[in-house]
Amino acid sequence: MASTFYITTPIYYVNARPHLGHAYTTIVADSLSRFHRMLGDRTWFLTGTDEHGDKIAKAAAAQNETPQAFTDRVSGQFRALWPRLNVRNDQFIRTTDPDHKARVQQFLQRVYDNGDIYFGEFGGHYCTGCERFYTEKELENGLCPQHLTKPEFIREKNYFFRMSKYLPWLKEYIQAHPDFIRPERYRNEVLAMLEGGVLEDLCISRPKSRLTWGIELPFDKDYVCYVWFDALLNYISALGWPDGEKFATFWPGEHLVAKDILKPHAIFWPTMLKSAGLPMYKHLNVHGYWLSKDAKMSKSLGNVVEPLDMMNIYGLDAFRYFLLREMNFGSDAGFSEESLVTRLNADLANDLGNLFSRVLSMNAKYFGSRVPAAGDRTPDDEALVELAENAVENYIHLFVSVRFSQALEALWELVRALNKYVDTQAPWTLAKEGRTERLSSVIRLILECMRKVACCLWPVMPGTAEAMLGQLGQPVAEGAQPGTHLSDEKGRWNVLTEGAAVASASNLFPRAEMPKAEKPAKAPKAKPAAAEQKSKTEDKSQIVYDDFAKLDLRVGTVLSCEKHPNADKLLKFQIDLGEGEPRQILSGIAAHFKPEELVGRQVCVVANLAPRTIRGLESRGMILSVEDDTRLRLIAPDGEMKPGSRIS
Ligand code: MSP
Repeated sequence: MASTFYITTPIYYVNARPHLGHAYTTIVADSLSRFHRMLGDRTWFLTGTDEHGDKIAKAAAAQNETPQAFTDRVSGQFRALWPRLNVRNDQFIRTTDPDHKARVQQFLQRVYDNGDIYFGEFGGHYCTGCERFYTEKELENGLCPQHLTKPEFIREKNYFFRMSKYLPWLKEYIQAHPDFIRPERYRNEVLAMLEGGVLEDLCISRPKSRLTWGIELPFDKDYVCYVWFDALLNYISALGWPDGEKFATFWPGEHLVAKDILKPHAIFWPTMLKSAGLPMYKHLNVHGYWLSKDAKMSKSLGNVVEPLDMMNIYGLDAFRYFLLREMNFGSDAGFSEESLVTRLNADLANDLGNLFSRVLSMNAKYFGSRVPAAGDRTPDDEALVELAENAVENYIHLFVSVRFSQALEALWELVRALNKYVDTQAPWTLAKEGRTERLSSVIRLILECMRKVACCLWPVMPGTAEAMLGQLGQPVAEGAQPGTHLSDEKGRWNVLTEGAAVASASNLFPRAEMPKAEKPAKAPKAKPAAAEQKSKTEDKSQIVYDDFAKLDLRVGTVLSCEKHPNADKLLKFQIDLGEGEPRQILSGIAAHFKPEELVGRQVCVVANLAPRTIRGLESRGMILSVEDDTRLRLIAPDGEMKPGSRIS
């Protein structure tokens, strides 16, 4: 029988629009749920909105709306965002759903009947931002440590959950289950809270005289339920606890939260489950904060990044990849567009995009875009196969242990090894030497590895992975997933069908420009004197069309690029101009590019320039570029073109 996997995000407060922090947790949950689906597990992925409590009531009042109208509106913004980020949650819960309310009352009644709820009086410092009481000790200079605001001191009669009764048990449970709270630093933090002896019983009600926006206690109609007690129960009410089929199938599951809500999830929630006699969740996965301008990204600090803006500028999958790759799960990470662009260009455009682009165009040239035959493996091939199998195995292991950044790094070892393998096997030389059988097995092995990479990447970059698999002749049906179980991937070879059609070109990740404000400041070059400038632009005598027609301008694909051995300023290119043999062209642009960044890119070439020999090497053509005061760029078509296409 297939295993089950149930993953949840926090249900988000509807007092503010979703930002990058919320998008991160939800995209991670989506990737995990897709990953487990690809492992063959039956999965359930829940997200939603947390809609009761002081904070929401106040936010609605500030907008002159009723709490219900306000929560309907903002909850709708969360719900609408997720599909745009290609998040496929199975369920979206709202704590104002009648079904949720009924289950919360049922749970309260059960715990009350167990004798774990009592009536008493209590005074404490209440932070509305956190929706919780702080003890004197927990405040920092009298302020809430999260929001840096002064909490309100409240003394009133309320209902309390006997949480302290279960704390010794909880400590033992956490000690006996090393993976219950992960990464380890948060487990240690929770153990320290439990050691500290400051934890008391939990106040779980609010008098209606002060707050009506909540779920009424089943045993006292003058009180509503404390918002956290209500909210945590979403994880089981959504499954139809106590008697729902989904509850029987999917509970216990695992939770995904940031460190801001460690305490309710690591202390309130397990003790609530224990009191009600329910099985513990499997894991609490805790991540750090996305920081912006060195502070936690949050609406109150006014430093939020809009996920849709990032998606619109850089593409959804580049954004999703960046989030998982850049944040070391558990630690904080700084968000900047500059780091997004650096990753996009280095990992996606250069490493991954180039691999697809160069291999598919070589396969087009040598095998008419058909999958070539596999051949006997050489020691080099065996080494690549071993590396690929290890990469897939490590990737799976790291991913399910929520070490996403390390998992992607493990996969990139394969991507980089493939680019290197292309360079060392030099298919163009094999072609030139007429070693067709070897050429065929080299290209085939690379294509097989590319398929593995695409399958592994589907949970993180579903759209791109589907495009890659489509290019490899393995299309994924709309709304479906790649037809493989990741756990079988390690040893799956020769999956592609010999002779089947594959794409002849690929342009998965156009390179991104550095955002303007963050461009490294460069001293502008001294402007040429006005007269000199004039002579450069205006002194060109007019030409007639026939003069222009003498130029043979072509699009080419860079097959290889390296430094000229005897000239620092020159790069030596081998360029595919669709002529069968690559053209060697020298270009004086070494100061502007690293040679490896140019491999796979398309360029525009003056193809009929008379050959010249520069520092001992022949150059047959010229690569077109454009330069302004600060930088130099290559001219290229705005989409992939067949090498040799004529520019007119
Ligand atoms: N409603 C409660 C959760 C109840 S769950 C039973 C809540 N809501 S929240 O809207 O404040 O969401 C907090 C969560 O949003 C964090 O735990 C995290 O998942 C995500 N993030 C919000 N800001 C974030 C960052 N700056 N960085 C990373 N994640 C962030 O707490």
